[in-house]
Amino acid sequence: MNRIAVSNIRKTFQLKPGQFVSVDGKETDRITVIDGLDLTVRAGEFMTLVGPSGSGKSVLLDIIGGLTQATGGAVHLDGEPITRPDPKTAYVFQQYALLPWRTALSNVEYPLEVRGVQKAERTATAKHLLSLFGLASFGDRFPSQLSGGMQQRVAIARALASEPEVLLMDEPFAALDAQTREILQVELLRIWAKIKTTVIFVTHSIDEAIFLADRVAVMTARPARVKEIIDIDLPRPRDGDIRSSLAFNEHRARVWEALRDEVNRAQKDWALSPDFNN
Ligand SMILES: Nc1ncnc2c1ncn2[C@@H]1O[C@H](COP(=O)(O)OP(=O)(O)OP(=O)(O)O)[C@@H](O)[C@H]1O
Ligand SMILES: [Mg+2]
Repeated sequence: MNRIAVSNIRKTFQLKPGQFVSVDGKETDRITVIDGLDLTVRAGEFMTLVGPSGSGKSVLLDIIGGLTQATGGAVHLDGEPITRPDPKTAYVFQQYALLPWRTALSNVEYPLEVRGVQKAERTATAKHLLSLFGLASFGDRFPSQLSGGMQQRVAIARALASEPEVLLMDEPFAALDAQTREILQVELLRIWAKIKTTVIFVTHSIDEAIFLADRVAVMTARPARVKEIIDIDLPRPRDGDIRSSLAFNEHRARVWEALRDEVNRAQKDWALSPDFNN
């Protein structure tokens, strides 16, 4: 069953006054970052997205999360159009967006508090989640007293506290050192296998994309479409050793083959573009 269906979406931004971009040789003050993008994600699937920087991955996630409206096309969650954030969906961003004045435990409790869950129950759930991530004895620490890897574990535990049916993750491990990143990948898979939530995970790392995924979607350079979907038929549960297997290497070559031209195309495009983020 398809849980998420993205059909022919387009997203256009109006640039700031005085900013222009050249599209097919014409100057314009609007930029289309996604055009004609289709993607379906099955219930319980782990889908990873890779694509050149600036290709619209975060915008796509925002649209699926109901944080931004598409300019055209439609996104459905379980057959219902997504027009605003859905309580079934949780988000984990690249930067650990924890509430600094709350302890780790109380950060994880937060979504349960918002939902009106009783104190005893929410504390028990939050403690359980922290222990799943090896943080049982860190519940009373404030975010500033935790390492980056620990903070990101807390952020993921918090996202899971609301028992999301869909988990959107935008480069959640990008700011972490390589070892912590690999440990968290394994932990995430272990917990995902338990709770069977549907995950869309954006990453710049081909290895991470393959290691985690049931399927990898490779995006084109802007305007974004899905260029190719690659099935990752590696056995589960997976551990770090799988990265040195022949099958993993074959997947790596295949994803890179699909991605390479898009990265080159994006780099040419940047050379012609103003910096839209400033
Ligand atoms: N509010 C906005 N106004 C104008 N342009 C925007 C806006 N938000 C995003 N963009 C542009 O849309 C394009 C896609 O942005 P997006 O953040 O989705 O890229 P990305 O694929 O997530 O890149 P990265 O891999 O670097 O995170 C970029 O060119 C960006 O500058
Ligand atoms: Mg992004």
